[in-house]
Amino acid sequence: MAVAAQKGGVGKTTTAVNLACALAAHHGQRVLLVDMDPQAHVHASLRAVSRPGPVAVSDILLAEPARDLMDAVVPSALEGLSLTPPDKALHEAEGRLASKVGREVILQAALDTARTWFDTIVIDCPPNLGNLTLNALLAADEVLVPCDMSLLALEGVADLLDTVQTVNTRLRHPLDVAGVLRTRVDTRNVKQNEAIDGALRDNFGGLVLDTVIPVNSALAQAQTEGQPIERFQPRSRGAVAYRALAAELLAHRGERVAS
Ligand SMILES: Nc1ncnc2c1ncn2[C@@H]1O[C@H](COP(=O)(O)OP(=O)(O)O)[C@@H](O)[C@H]1O
Ligand SMILES: [Mg+2]
Repeated sequence: MAVAAQKGGVGKTTTAVNLACALAAHHGQRVLLVDMDPQAHVHASLRAVSRPGPVAVSDILLAEPARDLMDAVVPSALEGLSLTPPDKALHEAEGRLASKVGREVILQAALDTARTWFDTIVIDCPPNLGNLTLNALLAADEVLVPCDMSLLALEGVADLLDTVQTVNTRLRHPLDVAGVLRTRVDTRNVKQNEAIDGALRDNFGGLVLDTVIPVNSALAQAQTEGQPIERFQPRSRGAVAYRALAAELLAHRGERVAS
């Protein structure tokens, strides 16, 4: 599952990290968290429970001949959770990929082994639609789209859903939308929330998830401490919300498999 949005600061990394941890801690899943963002915020968010590794994702993306992403995977101190190391060189890789044939599908192929090892692979994306995000979308079977309660984020969701359409039709990769996730919701902003909720419903209807991630300072503090919310403050509203998100997404997946 890719976590993607064109806008920065909407909670992509917070969502990728805490969803991955909730799936591992509460659903007994083996989860791999792949960081495709050169800002390396996944590692920063989990630095109290992980260590850097010798092989970076950009090494895998640029390797000739092709290389398996499992070479880059490092286990974390959290049961069930593994991740890729921080990789600032991804920034350069983005440009260098441009000259490679089949540049959009390198991650897809590199994850073949990981798909057999892990129950869920969560891919955190950079805040643009470059080669790194495209690699993530073509490697994923579904995309989760965080959206904070702003007009700009809303426009970003529309752009991203257009890209999903392109991936489905032109690139012929079956990519589902796992849902649009409302993030950083401040319940005191009643009018603004109503307006954005209305626009979300009108534009994206059933794609909007029931789970809402509230503004919660514990989530930001956990990131500063380098820990998932599950470990930092398991009883905070943020932790409760990310557990609910994990359960909702698994229920949807179950429905899809059943139909
Ligand atoms: N629900 C939330 N409540 C409070 N702070 C949040 C919440 N979600 C994200 N943040 C904070 O907002 C900032 C941006 O979030 P982040 O997940 O890094 O966004 P993105 O990956 O989309 O750029 C971070 O400092 C993070 O700690
Ligand atoms: Mg991020």
